[in-house]
Amino acid sequence: MNAPLPAEVLKQHLIDPEICIRCNTCEETCPIKAITHDSNNYVVDPDICNGCMACVPPCPTGAIDNWRLMVRAEAYGVQEQLGWEELPGEKALPETAAALPADDVPAATDLAAPAPFSAPGATVPPWSAAHPYVNLYTHKTPMTATVVGNYRVTGADTESDIHHIVLDFGELPFPVLEGQSIGILPPGLDAQGRPHHARQYSLASPRDGERAGYNNLSLTVKRVTEDHAGAAAHGVCSNYLCDLAKNDKVQVIGPFGHTFLMPNHPRANLIMICTGTGSAPMRAMTERYRRRIDTGENGRLLLFFGARTERELPYFGPLMKLPRDFIDINLALSRETGQPKRYVQDLIRERAASVRELLADRNTCIYVCGLKGMEVGVLDALRDVTVQGGQDWSILHDALRREGRLHFETY
Ligand code: A2P
Repeated sequence: MNAPLPAEVLKQHLIDPEICIRCNTCEETCPIKAITHDSNNYVVDPDICNGCMACVPPCPTGAIDNWRLMVRAEAYGVQEQLGWEELPGEKALPETAAALPADDVPAATDLAAPAPFSAPGATVPPWSAAHPYVNLYTHKTPMTATVVGNYRVTGADTESDIHHIVLDFGELPFPVLEGQSIGILPPGLDAQGRPHHARQYSLASPRDGERAGYNNLSLTVKRVTEDHAGAAAHGVCSNYLCDLAKNDKVQVIGPFGHTFLMPNHPRANLIMICTGTGSAPMRAMTERYRRRIDTGENGRLLLFFGARTERELPYFGPLMKLPRDFIDINLALSRETGQPKRYVQDLIRERAASVRELLADRNTCIYVCGLKGMEVGVLDALRDVTVQGGQDWSILHDALRREGRLHFETY
C-alpha cells in the first residue's frame, strides 16, 4: 500500500501543453469543472481538482496524465499554467514537507476512486480492439505528408462544403486504426503571434489505407465559415485543408485515440450513428468491413446518418451503392423539401426492433460521432427502445460502458 500524502503536500494534476491537442475532452469529462482553457492552454485548477481520474482515460493523447508533488501552498495556479509553453520539471520537496521515499509516491490511481461513468460513453475500447499506436509524431517532431487527393463530397450547390482529403506518408510509418484521429498543424501564426495549435480530425479510411496497401489515409473536413451560433467565422485549419492542392505538403501529428476503436473479433456488429463529418470514422469502419465482405467474418452494420439534405450528406453516392445486405442504411434528413424534419434519434426509435435485437447481442458496439447536440437525443432514444423492450436502461448503459461497447466523439 502507498502511504498517504502529508496534508501540506499536493500531487498536482497538470496537462502537458506540448502534447495536448486542445480537443476539449477533459474539460467536458471533468465532473467538478476543475479544467478550463484559453486560446493557449487547457489547465487544471489545483483548488478544485480532487484527482478523481475521470478525465484521464478519455484523453486521446495522454497529455492529461501528468503529476507533480508540490508543497500545497506553492501549487501552480491557473493563470500561471495558461501561460506555459511546456511543463515545468519536477521540483524537490523541502525536507519539512516530509518528502516521501520514492517507493511510497502514490500512483495516480491511488488518489481517489475513479468517478464511475461520469461520461456518457465508455473510456475503454472493445475487448477485441487492435492495439493502437498514439503520439508517434508530436508538435516537436511532426511528420510531413503529401496531399494526393482533395475533392468535395457534398453537392456543389449546397452550403456544406465538405472535402475528402487524402494524405500520403511515403516511406515513413504512420500506423492507424479506424476511429483514431490525427492532428494537422496549420501554417502561420495565431493572433498572439504563436504557431497555431494542431486541429484534430478523425480518419475516414481504414487501417490499411485509403487505398488498400498504400501508406495513406483520408480525412473528411468541413469548411468552417460560421461558428456554432451562426456568426461569420473563418476556420483556420479547415479552410487551409479544403484549399490544398495535389502535391502540397502538410504537417501531421498523432495518431491519437485509444478507446473509440472497432472490435476486432469475427461477427461483431456495429451500430453507427453520425451527423455530417461525424461520418468519417463510420466510413473507415464500414470500409474495413467492405474489404473483407467475402470472408464470412463480418457481423451486421446498422447506420443512422443525419444531414440537412441528401446533397449535403457527405459520400451520399458511394454510400448508396453499398449492398443492402451488407449495411442497413437509415438517413435522417432535416431540411429536405417536402419531407418532415428528421434526426438520427427519430430513426433509432423507428427502427427500435432492429436496435433492440443488436443491443441484446454482446458482440454489438455502438459509435456516435458528430454534433454535440445529438448526444442527449441519441441516449434518450436508446433508453426508450430499451425500456419499450422491457429492459432496464441504466443496467444496459453501465454494461455498454464497462465493456467498451458505447463510444461518443462529439464536437
Ligand atoms: P438541422 O437541420 O436542425 O440543423 P450540420 O449540417 O449542421 O452539420 O448538421 C447535420 C445534421 O444534424 C443536420 O440534419 C442537423 O439538423 C442535425 N442536427 C442538428 N442538431 C441535432 C441534434 N440535437 N440531434 C440530432 N441531429 C441534429
